Amino acid sequence: MATIPVDSRVNSKTAEFFSRQHRMLIDGRFVPAASGKTFPVYNPATGEEVARVPEAEAEDVDRAVTAARRAFDSGPWSRMSPSQRGQLIWKLADLLEANLDEFAEIESLDNGKPFSVARVADLPLSIDMFRYMAGWATKITGSTLPFSDAFHSYTLREPIGVVGQIIPWNFPLLMAVWKLAPALAAGCCVVLKVAEQTPMTALRLAELIEQAGFPAGVVNILTGYGEGAGAPLAEHPLVDKVAFTGSTEVGKLIVKASAGNLKKVSLELGGKSPAIIFPDADLERAIPGTASAIFFNQGQCCCAGSRLFVHESVYDKVLQGVSDIAGGIRVGAGIDPKTEMGPLVSEEQFDRVTGFIDSGVREGARVAVGGKRHGNRGYFVQPTVLTHTKPEMKVVREEIFGPVVCAESFSDSDLDRVAREANNTIYGLAASVWTRDLSTAHKMARLIRSGTVWINCHNVFDASLPFGGYKQSGWGREMGEEVLHNYTELKAVTAAL
Ligand code: NAI
Ligand code: MG
Repeated sequence: MATIPVDSRVNSKTAEFFSRQHRMLIDGRFVPAASGKTFPVYNPATGEEVARVPEAEAEDVDRAVTAARRAFDSGPWSRMSPSQRGQLIWKLADLLEANLDEFAEIESLDNGKPFSVARVADLPLSIDMFRYMAGWATKITGSTLPFSDAFHSYTLREPIGVVGQIIPWNFPLLMAVWKLAPALAAGCCVVLKVAEQTPMTALRLAELIEQAGFPAGVVNILTGYGEGAGAPLAEHPLVDKVAFTGSTEVGKLIVKASAGNLKKVSLELGGKSPAIIFPDADLERAIPGTASAIFFNQGQCCCAGSRLFVHESVYDKVLQGVSDIAGGIRVGAGIDPKTEMGPLVSEEQFDRVTGFIDSGVREGARVAVGGKRHGNRGYFVQPTVLTHTKPEMKVVREEIFGPVVCAESFSDSDLDRVAREANNTIYGLAASVWTRDLSTAHKMARLIRSGTVWINCHNVFDASLPFGGYKQSGWGREMGEEVLHNYTELKAVTAAL
């Protein structure tokens, strides 16, 4: 097979990885799709094809689920001691750490994000998540319930079984790890279907999973499209639980697909998170903080601070500050060390995001900065600030998932009314509140209806912090102790004495 030129700036190991004949991980083996079909993977900085990967379909899903089922029902994983499971997960973290730069390069070429960002954000967060969950493997316990002298009752928290996991492309490796780590710690067996736009780091991770010595069938990794591979996984009768991260639209399809065998479902969906700046905020922090809230990861974050609410007394200053930052961001190929913002992930997302900007302008919004394509190849969009938006506009109501923020001012000093405006969305994933007043901060934290509220910060994550949505942003929580509830069943055992 001819080597596909990846990018002359990446190291030879990364280039060699892209040029390989890629295989999926099913039942401990690296295999092509049953049909032999493959599909292309593009570098979003250039639009060029950089790899081809297997196109999984229903038959491959079935093989993977059958392997996971066998590994769970009769196999070594659910019966392995929690300590041994934890050690394997920890070993995987060590292997990932040993290959950190290579993973960051692969992620940058596949997704578009700056290599420098992947190195300090995606990779450390992934490694830490494995380690955090490795620790939980030995700490999943039940309790005793002394309700009567005549009975002895206790609970057992048991693995839920075979888990189907479907993930998006915005943090390809990290999303895989957020899903895999808790499921494995809980003792489940997994079929992971990665996003068609960004399959590469998961395929490399599959090699490390084999290297670490996970038993066959415990982790199966499929590359394929949503309808072709995601849908049969969500429907599969031998899957006990499906965990999904992606659009709210597909989240609703997952719920329908799960109805056949009433598999358990957890969902991490879209957002339209407010960032609210009060008049007493420290603007030296609030201005860069809210700019980064929207522009981090090219705006492709489910919790992006995409609605900026600023008190009228500081609105002009904040708008100027955020616009200056937006205008100064160095946009370029992720692999270039000088780059601060990369391209969007795909042509489809490029069309979607530029379409949103156009619709905003058509409906009367004004572009304070940005608003256009950057350069003439690849999927780059300028960091954009829109003003003069109205609550009924599409750009204000819908998730754009790009570097586009809608700024508006508020005059109210009544916190209930400010919160009502911030809550005026079908989503409830996150919010940030910027103020020096402790009382304002914590009152707002209670009034906002979302799974996360940040005070004087935004986009702060840790493996210990539960993350997920109110309203149409999802069901259940990722990370923290709470995520273990997604992957366990609780059994009450009662003995008459
Ligand atoms: P999507 O929801 O279609 O894709 C996410 C995952 O679901 C991918 O692995 C995809 O293959 C799979 N999928 C698609 N259709 C499926 C089906 N019928 N059954 C099972 N699995 C299926 O998201 P897409 O199209 O990539 O992006 C569209 C919009 O979704 C974005 O503009 C953004 O607004 C939102 N989104 C939100 C994310 C989040 O983290 N909350 C992540 C990605 C996208
Ligand atoms: Mg889609």
